[in-house]
Amino acid sequence: MTIKRGGFTNRLGFVAAAAGSAIGLGNIWRFPYEAGQNGGAVFLVIYIICIFAICFPVMVGEIAVGRKSQSDAYGAFRALGNKRLAVIGGFGILCGFMILSFYNVVAGWAFGYFLEIVFGDLLQEKDFGAFFSSYVTDFWDNLIYSLVFMAATAWIVMKGIKEGIETASKIMMPILFLLLIGLVIHALTLDNAWEGVKFYLWPDFSELTIKTIYAAVGQAFFSLSLGMGALITYGSYVSKKENITRAATVVTLADFSVAFLAGLLIFPLVFSQGQQPTAGPGLVFVALPGIFQHMDPLIGRVVGGGFFLLLCFAALTSTISLLEVPTAYFVDEKKWPRKPVVWGLALTIFIMGLPSLLSQGASPFLTNFLFYEGASKTFLDLISDVFSEVGLPLGGFMISIFIAFKWKTRNLTAEIAQGNPEYPGSKLERFINFMITTICPLFLGLLFIVTVLQKFFNIEVFHLIGL
Ligand code: PHE
Repeated sequence: MTIKRGGFTNRLGFVAAAAGSAIGLGNIWRFPYEAGQNGGAVFLVIYIICIFAICFPVMVGEIAVGRKSQSDAYGAFRALGNKRLAVIGGFGILCGFMILSFYNVVAGWAFGYFLEIVFGDLLQEKDFGAFFSSYVTDFWDNLIYSLVFMAATAWIVMKGIKEGIETASKIMMPILFLLLIGLVIHALTLDNAWEGVKFYLWPDFSELTIKTIYAAVGQAFFSLSLGMGALITYGSYVSKKENITRAATVVTLADFSVAFLAGLLIFPLVFSQGQQPTAGPGLVFVALPGIFQHMDPLIGRVVGGGFFLLLCFAALTSTISLLEVPTAYFVDEKKWPRKPVVWGLALTIFIMGLPSLLSQGASPFLTNFLFYEGASKTFLDLISDVFSEVGLPLGGFMISIFIAFKWKTRNLTAEIAQGNPEYPGSKLERFINFMITTICPLFLGLLFIVTVLQKFFNIEVFHLIGL
């Protein structure tokens, strides 16, 4: 290899960057509305099981594949498998590309909310639902905010691995975490808050459907940045001294804690404000401002603005990782220079995001784009459903099949053992190998079929076979 690969400076650097990738809009924007639309506590239960049983082994596998191959997502499967298997990485890169296109739009909303709270009159609004609905239809504002966001992402990715990614993650993440805890405590004291807690923590298993399961699994992969090679790419920058299983544990727990807290904040708020938990993608933007509105005006501005600013930073450490995946591909595989690759990709992805941006009301055609799953879907919904809800678990399926049957678990163990000498022969090794070779491929493969049939073709497999 002619181009020297970047690398994280130390252990905390990798953990911070991987946690930065994981923690983002997925935790604070998407998790609460997915949980709200899919039965609340039942969703949470499935989500927890999936994170630890299915996602954790896949995460360890992805990081190990990246570190062993020292390549981008595409090159990794070629290096450890063969040229044909590199399509797994190629599929991941495509998913990342498409996810970033709409993710950036939502990040633009968060940025706009920051500005509206600090410099505008957002907190004086009477109806936050109406405000949000009209806010997202504003083409020019959203265009500019998402353009700024994409430019910031590209700028940091261009500067390379060490300086950009690590510093941002290390400072912002702990502050966000503390602010969340503070807000949760405050939210729990509101009238009717316990209704929200009940909805979120008291499962009613009669609400459990196949949709709950695939929504939870899709959300888990999205939130942990799995199934598309983000952690393969980051893994390729990790030193051989790094303890991969410990890093994956920290990242998983940190990501889960933030999502869990976001739910514990949003549902009490939603119930105390008489809103609907099933509101969908606008949920956080509609529910959250209420908590800041009831503070002293100046404090509300500072805390509310601060919250959305930190949310922007959380989103930024995720968009960085999303952009890094295709960038690493062009730099490693095609040997193109990093700078034009980064800016070229950022511009292309930004343009690909425009239909998503327009699909929130600005363009009626893109807003009522398709009808499936019993509902009218926007263009943004479609891209998110295909490339994240279905695409990422499918990526996870292919990665586990790849590790189980091509690369082989003994090579996985050998890679993890560097940096974790106690790993071979441990219970953890047995657990991960068992999951990766049996449960992950079986469950994710079956889920893929069931999801596609039910979601896009309205065929309920489990009814067909009489379950
Ligand atoms: N995990 C990020 C979030 O929760 C989103 C993401 C998905 C980032 C896939 C990278 C890869 O916001």
